Amino acid sequence: MVADTDLGALAADLAREAGVLALRRRAEGVSLAATKSTVADIVTEADREVESLIRERLRRERPEDGFLGEELDAAAGTSGLTWVVDPIDGTVNYASGIPTYSVSVAIVEGEPSPEAWRGVAGAVYAPVLDELFTAVRGEGAWLGAERLAVTEETPAGALLGTGFGYDPSTHDGDLATVRRVMTIARDLRRMGSAAIDLSYVAAGRLDGFFERGLNAWDFAAGALLVEEAGGVVSRLDTAAPRPMLIAGGPRVHERLRALIADTTERT
Ligand code: IPD
Repeated sequence: MVADTDLGALAADLAREAGVLALRRRAEGVSLAATKSTVADIVTEADREVESLIRERLRRERPEDGFLGEELDAAAGTSGLTWVVDPIDGTVNYASGIPTYSVSVAIVEGEPSPEAWRGVAGAVYAPVLDELFTAVRGEGAWLGAERLAVTEETPAGALLGTGFGYDPSTHDGDLATVRRVMTIARDLRRMGSAAIDLSYVAAGRLDGFFERGLNAWDFAAGALLVEEAGGVVSRLDTAAPRPMLIAGGPRVHERLRALIADTTERT
């Protein structure tokens, strides 16, 4: 049986190798491969190539594990473990030359649903910034050699992150939530990579984060980072098409969750 720390080391290695490839491809120029749900929802050739690199390495080194990535087909495994991968989280930033994008690699145990699985290890690598965030369950969260801890910030002073989905028909609801949240926040950031937002919550750079409609690959690694840094992550409306993910230190999380649940009921 492989130790969680070995899986963590593999996740970190995969994220770093993939990030270096993404960076190299960026320097060579970005080619758009396709648009997905809307014109804003894009995939580049690099997204696919980076995910293939991770997938091929896992096929060789962990053939019994399942795989769930953003760009390729999912594959069930036999080990009870699944790799959940976003090859480039923040593809719009990547295509536009904005440095906040990342590779997110997580390994989870259990059912293929974020409510039912347990994170085992995760890594988020932001290659332009050369920052590698890692977490192993029960072992803490780290930025390189620095152990991470969420802030104890009170909600009134909270610096929060958020993001918006690609479907314009959902923006009214998103903006209603933002208006409400701004009554308790110091300020708001929209970084463009949910994996980086969650890493920043773990690192205490942001006090909290919320976004509706994220996919599992956007948050699987980041959620473990936050939890291992002493924070709380939960989802609201999990039966709806666009559940709301909320993360933060315990007090910020609790306040945000209550506020957002109340806003959702009114809209
Ligand atoms: C996106 C980023 C963005 C978030 C979007 C995600 P992608 O992921 O995480 O910050 O606001 O909801 O879809 O598409 O670049 O992998």
